[in-house]
Amino acid sequence: MELKDKRIIVTGSARGMGAATVRAYVNAGAEVVAMDITDDSGNEVVKEANASGAGNATYMHVDISERESVETGFAEAVKNLGGLDALAHPAAIQRTSDAGDVSVEDWDLMFAVNVRGTMLTNQVAHRYLKESGGGSIINFGSISGLRPEVSAAAYSAAKGAVHSWTRTAAGTWGKDKVRVNAILPAMATPMYLEAIARATDEQTDAIYWQNLHSIYLGHEYGDPDQDLGPVMVFFASDASKFITGQLIPVDGGQTTVR
Ligand SMILES: NC(=O)c1ccc[n+]([C@@H]2O[C@H](COP(=O)([O-])OP(=O)(O)OC[C@H]3O[C@@H](n4cnc5c(N)ncnc54)[C@H](O)[C@@H]3O)[C@@H](O)[C@H]2O)c1
Repeated sequence: MELKDKRIIVTGSARGMGAATVRAYVNAGAEVVAMDITDDSGNEVVKEANASGAGNATYMHVDISERESVETGFAEAVKNLGGLDALAHPAAIQRTSDAGDVSVEDWDLMFAVNVRGTMLTNQVAHRYLKESGGGSIINFGSISGLRPEVSAAAYSAAKGAVHSWTRTAAGTWGKDKVRVNAILPAMATPMYLEAIARATDEQTDAIYWQNLHSIYLGHEYGDPDQDLGPVMVFFASDASKFITGQLIPVDGGQTTVR
């Protein structure tokens, strides 16, 4: 019950790390509003989490790339929760693209969801967290934002922007006791499996050498419930209250053991 009485919004909750985060928070006793644009699985995730957890979650349709949707959704969520203590923000998209021919459409889509979505959700959450006397924002960066990513040029650039934003937001909102960190994960989720399925043979080879080979704890992607869930609980809890502006790899050593 590490998160008993904590009021938390989780984006991208319908699958992958967002869904695992909802389960971890409800198990730890939190009150959660889960947000996504995939409503059937979004509803299913909260139903299953509520069946076994000590806390409670409800689902809401919110498109993180649209200001109106974020403003309205967060206002209703915070009203229902009675305040806000943390935002966990895994929602994002990934597309394969090559630096030489990435289209304007793909570039703009990636930045609308992954970068503008991070700015909007963080900005609106900050307002409510400040009213609560402080709290935690947990963004999602990527190793792709730190190194060359030949098969995902636009995604890589967008994640680099999320890293910069995370530091700037941490620097701006520290005075309000709002901490802002970014998790850099390597987890076996639908996003990762879809990227593998889309890749050409050449890209699959690069993905192995760039990704699995350098996960020194077993050369496999982690399990979102076992390997990420407890970390998400820590960053939403008061135990992490002196950590801000950090890029935190949760990746079996992939990012920094080189
Ligand atoms: N899987 C990995 O190993 C890995 C590695 C590095 C970074 N990441 C990052 O971790 C985070 C979580 O990734 P995942 O693998 O769980 O992804 P995922 O694709 O499995 O889940 C992403 C969720 O976000 C939702 N979403 C997409 N666009 C949205 C929008 N406009 N509004 C609201 N919700 C939206 C999707 O519907 C989906 O439920 C992402 O930010 C991703 O970029 C993942």
